[in-house]
Amino acid sequence: MNSVRALALTEYGGPSAVKVSTIDAPTAVAGQVLVRVHAAGVNGLDWKVREGYVRDAYPLQLPTVLGIELAGVVEAVGPDVTRLRKGDRVMGPLGRLGAYADLVAVNAAYLCVIPDALDFVAAAALPIASVAASQSLTLAGPIRTGQRILIHGAAGGLGSFAVQYARQAGAVVYATAHSQHIDYVRSLGADHLIAYDKEQFEATASNIDLVIDYVGGEVLNRSWPVLADDGVIVSTATPAILASTPAGRRGLWFVNQPDTARLQAIADDVVHGRLQSNVGAVVRFDELPAAIERNRTQPQVGKTVVNFIAS
Ligand SMILES: NC(=O)c1ccc[n+]([C@@H]2O[C@H](COP(=O)([O-])OP(=O)(O)OC[C@H]3O[C@@H](n4cnc5c(N)ncnc54)[C@H](OP(=O)(O)O)[C@@H]3O)[C@@H](O)[C@H]2O)c1
Repeated sequence: MNSVRALALTEYGGPSAVKVSTIDAPTAVAGQVLVRVHAAGVNGLDWKVREGYVRDAYPLQLPTVLGIELAGVVEAVGPDVTRLRKGDRVMGPLGRLGAYADLVAVNAAYLCVIPDALDFVAAAALPIASVAASQSLTLAGPIRTGQRILIHGAAGGLGSFAVQYARQAGAVVYATAHSQHIDYVRSLGADHLIAYDKEQFEATASNIDLVIDYVGGEVLNRSWPVLADDGVIVSTATPAILASTPAGRRGLWFVNQPDTARLQAIADDVVHGRLQSNVGAVVRFDELPAAIERNRTQPQVGKTVVNFIAS
């Protein structure tokens, strides 16, 4: 059997727990296509899985290949797949781990065709962040004109999309980010900028209808007092929100779901300039372990993408 390159988690731990290795080349079973991966997005989930933070919620048999979103070319089509053909340029979430490999078998229903105007690196930056931002922003209901929304982590992958969606829907957007990233978040359209390293968000934000928490921990805990009486907090970062929501308050935990139609529409918005998608660093495959660690220690503006073809 042929083998392919992959980035595998061999044990739970620090950066050295992930290693470039080889795995058996997969085949596409019914409903799947085999994708030759050209680029993949780096996500916070990579280091959270690596460290074992989600081992109880998602027990894994190690070694396992990391990575949750990809862009590439369909190399083979499994039985029952009619929507995609060999040679199609596709992108999408995997719906599981395993995107950091040269060849990946993917549920065809999760993939959409990449518009001609997007290259593989730009496409790989979209599937998780753009769709999760859209879904988390509307989890508590549609956005209303004039609604007061506080977005924590506004410079990040999800945050940079959420700021744009919220503004486009007519909300008044309060956004927290590091002082170095304030100008960037302002350029996305946020109305009220709060540099979390220089000021307390509580001093600026009050009577907030919806807090979108992309940071978690203490930032989430401090957010309850800034809510309006009937306000709600949606967290993508701290599942314990369900157990820690104070009595009489509304807190929701978000879990993203593949949504091919929405991803296709978002890609169209990016191509036509209605939405900004920002790639920060592009790394080679052998630089992936370090890039995953940087996502934990020094998040930067724009998505980190690994370019398989350059490596
Ligand atoms: N539940 C789900 O289904 C799901 C799906 C996708 C993502 N997630 C999770 O959602 C979270 C956000 O994902 P992401 O991809 O957007 O991560 P990201 O790109 O790393 O962005 C997180 C941002 O948080 C900011 N930050 C750090 N400390 C902060 C503070 N004290 N106050 C305000 N902002 C702060 C950083 O901003 P600066 O750079 O300005 O410091 C960073 O850009 C992660 O925890 C991720 O694992 C969950």
